[in-house]
Amino acid sequence: MKKNLVVIGYGGMGGWHAEHALKSDVVNLLGVYDIKEERNELARSKGIFAYDSQEAVLKDDRVDIITVAVPNDDHIKVVIPCLEAGKNVICEKPVSMDSCELQKMIDAANKAGKLFTVHQNRRWDVDFLAMKQIADSGEIGKVFNIESRIHGSRGIPSDWRGQKAHGGGMLLDWGVHLIDQVMQIMPGKIVSLNCHFSHRTNKEVDDGFNLRMYFDNGASAYVEVGTYNFIAMPRFYMQCEKGSALIRDWREETQVVKCKAWHENDVLPVKTAAGLTKTMAPRNEVTTDTYKVARPASDVHEFYRNACAVIDGKAKQLVTHDEVMRVMKIMEACFESVEKGQVLSVEL
Ligand SMILES: NC(=O)c1ccc[n+]([C@@H]2O[C@H](COP(=O)([O-])OP(=O)(O)OC[C@H]3O[C@@H](n4cnc5c(N)ncnc54)[C@H](O)[C@@H]3O)[C@@H](O)[C@H]2O)c1
Repeated sequence: MKKNLVVIGYGGMGGWHAEHALKSDVVNLLGVYDIKEERNELARSKGIFAYDSQEAVLKDDRVDIITVAVPNDDHIKVVIPCLEAGKNVICEKPVSMDSCELQKMIDAANKAGKLFTVHQNRRWDVDFLAMKQIADSGEIGKVFNIESRIHGSRGIPSDWRGQKAHGGGMLLDWGVHLIDQVMQIMPGKIVSLNCHFSHRTNKEVDDGFNLRMYFDNGASAYVEVGTYNFIAMPRFYMQCEKGSALIRDWREETQVVKCKAWHENDVLPVKTAAGLTKTMAPRNEVTTDTYKVARPASDVHEFYRNACAVIDGKAKQLVTHDEVMRVMKIMEACFESVEKGQVLSVEL
């Protein structure tokens, strides 16, 4: 049976949930609630029921799931009362401002015995799935380095995302997705990390960052978000023991170069102004296979399908408490690394 959903926070993302949750075909939208009356009016003008208060939502016994899509600093203020009222809760990312807040939410969920999960919807991004598929298949061996970048050229949005008090900044906004994705691909524990922020368009919060993480198995990962990049670097670059994979743009398929013979007899040197180089000369088809991997199929509506199946005891939660806590602790370590201006030893 379909679950009854209410969305709290009917802004940009609340609007997305109100529309797309229905496409998952497992929920009915009972209504929405926003603290701004004009947003409730907008919902009503579209034929969506809008509640008068959060209390009214919590008192409605028909409500099975509440999706929380308010600015980041208010997540905890909405999530905990919803769980205490016995509702299942889906929270937008980043789930909280820090790991202490997140622990309080997890405790409330455990006490209530209700679903509490986070909308890490970029686990359904096709570029990420393509990289994960290649890494998991082992077709070019084990990953020893992955680089994930997202580059825009319009600075950070001028709304609450540019304000520290509301949990603004690109690390919390996009970083949470990119770090979560990399954690889904890379095995092992992070033993050290180093993070830098950029402030080209905003002094208060980071409008971009770069993060290098080192794992206990010797592998490394690099995550970079930029909002002042008029030429974008490739979306994903992955180095494996038997080859490399590249996605230039998240709308494109993956390029793979697999090494089939490490040793080369006849290397054609590259001529540079300063002389010849064989070491840096590109390989040819004698020692490598070059191919493209088709974009994997993906349906982001699986998120709601999973949430409903978990409530019915029919599936395991896809975005788990441990995973969101790990990503939150990595982001906390990033803030500490930036503040101290140093590489941090961690166990994450
Ligand atoms: N997963 C994604 O792809 C994705 C994309 C965009 C935003 N988000 C997340 O969704 C959340 C909302 O972002 P947005 O872009 O929709 O912001 P937004 O500013 O467009 O909308 C937020 C809405 O919440 C309302 N609101 C604020 N406090 C409230 C409260 N206590 N109770 C009820 N309503 C309240 C505001 O009036 C506003 O209408 C953020 O956590 C953001 O990080 C996620």
